[in-house]
Amino acid sequence: MLSGREIVLIISGGIAAYKSLDLIRRLKERGARVIPIMTAGAQEFVTPLAVGALSAEKVFTSLFDREAEHDVGHIRLARDHDLVLIAPATANLLAKMAHGIADDLATAVLLATDKPVLAAPAMNPKMWQDPATLRNVETLEERGIRFVGPASGEMAEKGEAGIGRMSEPLEIAAAASAVLKDVAVREGRLPLGGKHVLITSGPTHEPIDPVRYIANRSSGKQGHALAAAACDAGARVTLVSGPVDLPDPDNVEIVRVESASEMLSAVENRLPADIAIMAAAVADWRVASEGAQKIKKDGSGKPPTLELVENPDILATIGHHEILRPKLLIGFAAETQNLVDNARSKLERKNADWIIANDVSPETGIMGGDANTVRLVSRSGVEDWPEMDKYDVAREIIARAAAELNG
Ligand code: CTP
Repeated sequence: MLSGREIVLIISGGIAAYKSLDLIRRLKERGARVIPIMTAGAQEFVTPLAVGALSAEKVFTSLFDREAEHDVGHIRLARDHDLVLIAPATANLLAKMAHGIADDLATAVLLATDKPVLAAPAMNPKMWQDPATLRNVETLEERGIRFVGPASGEMAEKGEAGIGRMSEPLEIAAAASAVLKDVAVREGRLPLGGKHVLITSGPTHEPIDPVRYIANRSSGKQGHALAAAACDAGARVTLVSGPVDLPDPDNVEIVRVESASEMLSAVENRLPADIAIMAAAVADWRVASEGAQKIKKDGSGKPPTLELVENPDILATIGHHEILRPKLLIGFAAETQNLVDNARSKLERKNADWIIANDVSPETGIMGGDANTVRLVSRSGVEDWPEMDKYDVAREIIARAAAELNG
């Protein structure tokens, strides 16, 4: 959502300004252009040189910059970009905004902008809880200003703690992304705006006893990439995930589960959905009766016998759901042989619309790797896709799904 977007970043004067340097990096890593404005106070904490070096942009500091003002620079700064982000937003800056004061470049831009504004406050807890600040925040919220944080924790001042810490840069980047998504959905610019996409991801763990479980090698990368791509396409996304070692995708509802049975009830509870994509590598079997205590060796040298029973098939269950079957239901088929035939039979058996088939033989490196080579199997035929990064595979699946849904 941040890729290719232009963000005016106003840095005001608080100790949290040092975190804005990391914020610039995070926003740029996600493909955004960051145009910094620093108040006089901010320059007491971090230098324009550092901010300029990290953003690779001119840093604006003065309302009366002759070079920028010959074409009314502050108005252009306020209007020509996608989002105005204030991090940190001090109590003083919020107070000026609430009262329409425009006595420096930052406040003039804030008064003149017609773009969405997101503020990440940072101040001492007493200042945050002061009735004046609370009132100012309320006023600004009424005017449509969005807030992220502040968080609670230790303050820079010795012995002070409470609500007032600036949110972490990753959280601010996620909030910026959410604001831009909301605007794009409202303007009807995203193909899955207003749609609900439900995705399963990762492996399941089937307990044997309190310390052991049956699992598989799924990393969850493809399912998580699908969740991020669906979110970027404007959808409200629910990601039901088995245990994975991946960061949570931004702005997605995550439901963490362990076993196939838990995954099935999480999925059923989150229906209805317009699109469901079952990318999880669900364990086919579970132990018939999970041991309440750790299974011990009995000294005979004979291993215990584990009786397995089949797990519920989540894709097939929702594929045959009379009322709540999603309009578009997509499954995966992880195969090591007869890829297309097996995919076709899964399509029929589970009543899916598409099966994304991939060869997971160890030599392909797909399981756990970053790339994927897939075939899209539907009732109208089989398409071979070239090898792509898992995020690109996800983006393509989501683009095709949106086109299918929107007819
Ligand atoms: N799937 C599911 N619930 C299961 C097993 C599989 O929802 N208990 C889904 C997977 O998420 C995937 C599709 O069904 O979208 C196919 O999964 P796969 O493991 O390839 O097939 P299985 O049905 O398990 O068949 P087999 O193990 O015999 O290949």
